[in-house]
Amino acid sequence: MENEEDVYPLLEKTTPSERKPQYPTLWTLMAVTVALVLYSLSICWVTKVVIQGPSRPQLHAPASNFPHPDEKEYVIQTTGKRGNAWTHGLVYGKSSPQVDQAWFDMLRPFNTRVPAERYESSMNNRSSVRLSDGSGDYYVTLTMYHDLHCLMRFRWFLDPQYYANKTWEEQANDAGLMGHYRHCLWSLLESVMCAGDTSMRTFHWDPKKPAPKPDSPTDRKCVNWDWLYKWTLDRSFLLSDRMLSHPKYGLLDEWLKPVNERKNM
Ligand SMILES: *[C@@H]1O[C@H](CO)[C@@H](O)[C@H](O)[C@H]1NC(C)=O
Ligand SMILES: *[C@@H]1O[C@H](CO)[C@@H](O)[C@H](O)[C@H]1NC(C)=O
Repeated sequence: MENEEDVYPLLEKTTPSERKPQYPTLWTLMAVTVALVLYSLSICWVTKVVIQGPSRPQLHAPASNFPHPDEKEYVIQTTGKRGNAWTHGLVYGKSSPQVDQAWFDMLRPFNTRVPAERYESSMNNRSSVRLSDGSGDYYVTLTMYHDLHCLMRFRWFLDPQYYANKTWEEQANDAGLMGHYRHCLWSLLESVMCAGDTSMRTFHWDPKKPAPKPDSPTDRKCVNWDWLYKWTLDRSFLLSDRMLSHPKYGLLDEWLKPVNERKNM
């Protein structure tokens, strides 16, 4: 036995009958605690993997969003037929200065200013125009405002007489106008595919027709528009604020025309 202990000293304590009485030391208690914590965490991890599947690789591109997606507020919102009268009016409202004003109000944060530090930490050296007010802020447009601008243009497309003083045929023959509409269509297509909204749209049976009839979507998770609108409005500027200055042409007015050139005319 003595020989064995010499050869296998590490086995000594595994033989209870020969073990000296031992009291748990602080180190032992800490080790047990750590082991229990690790054990619990591993159980949690296994449960998460079983429930959610293996985690997907995290992409860091959303950091180029402003605000970052993690900062956004969401709400469960009813859309479709029982949805919002305001958005319904923006589309179905008869063309008028009031409807135009509502769209322009919605697009008010179109010109966004991003603090230099926030911009540079997330845009991978991609450059943009800087504001001319000495703040160092960068000038960007958020994609949602670009897409809303496109939707406004499609509303104009539906009423060429009012918005372009053109008949349908004249509108179709205006290459510049149609080029802008195609650009907008492509932009919206890319946005829909990028966002990948997977909320479910349902159907019901029509007693008089064989085909299933689609319902409007009802409750979906939406960004809190009021919150996001205010957040972006607080970080926007108007072209009439004259915040843009071209290195060669100088300060620009609200029509993006050089201020000095206009004076000279
Ligand atoms: C950005 O540019 C700097 C200086 O040119 C360079 O050192 C850095 O690696 C670039 N970063 C990225 C993400 O391209
Ligand atoms: C609309 O177009 C017609 C024909 O081109 C032209 O005579 C008329 O002056 C235009 N109206 C406005 C408000 O531009």
